[in-house]
Amino acid sequence: MDKRKVIIIGCGRVAAKHIKAIKKLDSRLTLSALVDVSDTAPKKLLESSKMSADQVKIFSDYKEAIDTIKPDIVAVTVPSGLHCQIAEYALNSGCNLLLEKPMTMSSGESRKIYELSKATGKKIAMGHIYRYFPLVDLLRKDIAAGRFGKVTHGTIYVRWGHGMDYYDSAAWRGTWRSDGGAMMNQTIHAIDLLVWLMGSKPVEAKAMLAQRVRKIEAEDLGMAILRMDDGSLASIEGTTATSDKDHCAMFTVLCENGTVSLGLKRGIPKLDIRDGNNKKLNMHYVMKQISTKGFSSLLNALNPHTGIYADFADAIDNDRQPLADALSGYSSVDTLMGIYKSAKEDRSISLPLTEDFASEDMNNYFEKSC
Ligand SMILES: NC(=O)c1ccc[n+]([C@@H]2O[C@H](COP(=O)([O-])OP(=O)(O)OC[C@H]3O[C@@H](n4cnc5c(N)ncnc54)[C@H](O)[C@@H]3O)[C@@H](O)[C@H]2O)c1
Repeated sequence: MDKRKVIIIGCGRVAAKHIKAIKKLDSRLTLSALVDVSDTAPKKLLESSKMSADQVKIFSDYKEAIDTIKPDIVAVTVPSGLHCQIAEYALNSGCNLLLEKPMTMSSGESRKIYELSKATGKKIAMGHIYRYFPLVDLLRKDIAAGRFGKVTHGTIYVRWGHGMDYYDSAAWRGTWRSDGGAMMNQTIHAIDLLVWLMGSKPVEAKAMLAQRVRKIEAEDLGMAILRMDDGSLASIEGTTATSDKDHCAMFTVLCENGTVSLGLKRGIPKLDIRDGNNKKLNMHYVMKQISTKGFSSLLNALNPHTGIYADFADAIDNDRQPLADALSGYSSVDTLMGIYKSAKEDRSISLPLTEDFASEDMNNYFEKSC
């Protein structure tokens, strides 16, 4: 089978992880072009990825790149406020999309991109990296099959410290229009995972946002509670106001007959899976992962984007939906917009939203509310 042609639009921080994944999967994928409005960014990226500039065309205009290369997969790794327009053009040009999170900056735009993917028959894989961590899919299936009994509630905390050097590194970071804050950027894919693991849908959001230490437009701390359609509750904490040397994302699903807890602390995977008798099931699940998905699948923890690309190539070949599909992109933005709206209007909000709400609708929120 011919290799799938991939182009990457946006050559910044996350694009390096995409290139690493494409290189790893070079029997199935080939990087055909890089696109960036900056002259220097693609060259730097090729250099740091140890790729020869002869193999890869460079463009400054994404439309020209899509029209010229006609890629199988367009990877969108530009600032979040630009996702919608590029996604729309790529889908209408007949390309599949690997779209970084968040899908777009509003519930209405995300719904539009989700509907367009259905109408064009083109697939979207979201950059929801947590779905691709080892064991996650096995645990989700067992929770759904009732292995741990009824789900009572779930919790996540994402303490992903970023200093002002991170926010000052690009003008779009921390702005309501193009990025949002700790909940929208650093926590949205964790919310996606928690909801996916719990196996139910959010029907109500209550939230508070704060600015503690980072001097940005949006929140550096958010807390929210979701009510799910099966009556369970989910609590969410997301912040960048912690030390930038200390990155943690922890997920716990609590059930009638057991608890599933997993995540990352300072780059090290953490696992605590117990049955109703408090017996640890960690090894059972590690062995099951190895026997069903191979030892190498454990390495996806090092660069989950490899898992995203491998699954996406397979999804295209076999005409199935990827693990993190277009619906996951739309639903997570809808939930996030419910959280923002709840903070803004100081009341609980029903989900899914019936009217469009955009991150930009939060403009001046802290000036007005504090
Ligand atoms: N899934 C993940 O783990 C993960 C991690 C980091 C970032 N992200 C997401 O990836 C996206 C990019 O984040 P980043 O940190 O790499 O940003 P970045 O600022 O480091 O890079 C963005 C790049 O896009 C380029 N760009 C801007 N406008 C463009 C245009 N019109 N056409 C082509 N290129 C353009 C910029 O010049 C820059 O090189 C964001 O949406 C972010 O939320 C996802």
